[in-house]
Amino acid sequence: MKKLSPVFPSLLIAAAILFAAAVVPAYGAPESSGWYTPEQAASGAKAYQKTCASCHGANLEGAMGPALVGKQFWLAYGGKKISTLWSTVHTQMPMMAPGSISVRNSINIMAFLLQKNGLPSGSRPLDNTVDLSKALPVK
Ligand code: HEC
Repeated sequence: MKKLSPVFPSLLIAAAILFAAAVVPAYGAPESSGWYTPEQAASGAKAYQKTCASCHGANLEGAMGPALVGKQFWLAYGGKKISTLWSTVHTQMPMMAPGSISVRNSINIMAFLLQKNGLPSGSRPLDNTVDLSKALPVK
């Protein structure tokens, strides 16, 4: 231990720096690293087909409910916080049974909608707490 002690503090500092470098990017803006993981979008696609496609179309083109892709989507959600989309998907939909979609499925469906609207995926999952205050781009 006597021989180690002069080295030990600097090792600790080095470890702290490495740790910070590994953790900090995880809290960076989703724009730079992607908005959701591909796995979330893939699960969301399945959940969407099961619970949403009957009213919004298999390709989100709209039917009884409005289109959820392209111009219509960006008009409704461009520049808005993710919380706006979240409250629709998780709280107001599906029309006949609002609030019936689990948190996990709602997040996945949101990831799927973002994917279909051209936002990139990344390694960091979309989250229904820390990400809600982030604004979607204007298109
Ligand atoms: C029974 C039909 C029906 C089902 C099922 C349904 N929706 Fe809807 N949805 C609607 C209708 C009708 C509207 C428009 C009326 C409104 O906004 O209240 C709407 C509106 C929306 C909007 C707002 C669109 C905009 O441009 O403002 C979103 C987002 C949405 N639905 C997502 C979903 C998702 C995600 C699901 C599956 C979990 C789903 N909906 C299931 C009928 C449905």
